[in-house]
Amino acid sequence: MSNRESNTVYSRIAGTGGYLPERILTNQELEAMVDTSDEWITSRTGIQQRHIAADNEFTLDLAEHASRQAISNAGLQTSDIDLIVVATTTPDQVFPSTACLLQSRLDIHGCPAFDVQAVCTGFVYAFSVADKFIRTGTSRCALVVGAETFSRIIDWTDRNTCVLFGDGAGAVVIQAHDAPGVYSTHLHADGDYASLLHVPSGVSNNLAAVQEGRAYVEMSGTEVFKMAVNTLGRIVDETLEANQMTRDDVDWLVPHQANLRIINAIAKKLNLPMEKVILTVAQQGNTSAASIPLALHEGITNGNIQRGETVMIEGFGGGFTWGSALLRY
Ligand code: COA
Repeated sequence: MSNRESNTVYSRIAGTGGYLPERILTNQELEAMVDTSDEWITSRTGIQQRHIAADNEFTLDLAEHASRQAISNAGLQTSDIDLIVVATTTPDQVFPSTACLLQSRLDIHGCPAFDVQAVCTGFVYAFSVADKFIRTGTSRCALVVGAETFSRIIDWTDRNTCVLFGDGAGAVVIQAHDAPGVYSTHLHADGDYASLLHVPSGVSNNLAAVQEGRAYVEMSGTEVFKMAVNTLGRIVDETLEANQMTRDDVDWLVPHQANLRIINAIAKKLNLPMEKVILTVAQQGNTSAASIPLALHEGITNGNIQRGETVMIEGFGGGFTWGSALLRY
């Protein structure tokens, strides 16, 4: 699904924000928790540490920090926001949505606010939806957030999964503009792969597991790895073709930060040296829907990504879901 149209309204990134909980969990600490080693984790994933939310810190809190920073960095007020889309797999409550709770925290009233659930592709989905609201003239200034306390759905005795994930939030404000901005977004899903990466319980099915704190991520790592590399490789081509661009036109890759080896494969596909790839995976691990906006925020804040440069974002996650966006910053 491409949304490049002869439309004069585009969306453009006005500001970004990010927030990571204070507590850092290192690979060395994990060595004392499960049968693993810093060497194994680092060589297989590139992850050295991850941030873990405090017991009294929730997805909404992380989202609020990142959102306030993004709005401030955009030079805007909360009252300028007329759409809120939050991507999360770990909402604080069954309902209201995290987006509605965030809206109240930010003292914003009346504008549409809703969550999207596409796990690690969640931010790309949310960003694509918000881009379409702006392109159709429905919204002028959208707050798009990826926020997760993924540590709460991790079995900390399962070495296959507990070494991979962390908590955090990233936020992006996008505004209507008369030039791109966002060139195109591309979203995909195939639910046939649901059982390869899932939490096999929820409110309707096996609520007891949720109530007893046993609703955990289960993953077939090798299969997920292969599918991620294949589908992300294909979506890179799809994204470039939709915009009649070549890989030489891409200045920066901002990938979902699941595994350094997956990121390496996509950078190679784009013929981009790793210096042109924004990497946070070593310090943050996989923060699911938060990872792409956190990486984008880091790339912009540290002065790497400059105005006018072309950026590709891409992600893959449970569902399976996968997606990308190509934009001019
Ligand atoms: N420490 C030590 N050993 C571990 C381990 C850990 N934390 N986790 C798994 N292992 C073991 C497994 O039990 C298995 O042992 P066995 O062969 O005795 O059964 C072995 O390591 C698997 O090794 P290998 O096949 O070399 O692993 P890998 O190269 O496929 O790497 C992953 C494993 C999980 C890092 C990799 O498959 C991966 O990153 N997959 C994608 C995960 C992901 O990104 N998920 C989120 C997507 S959004």
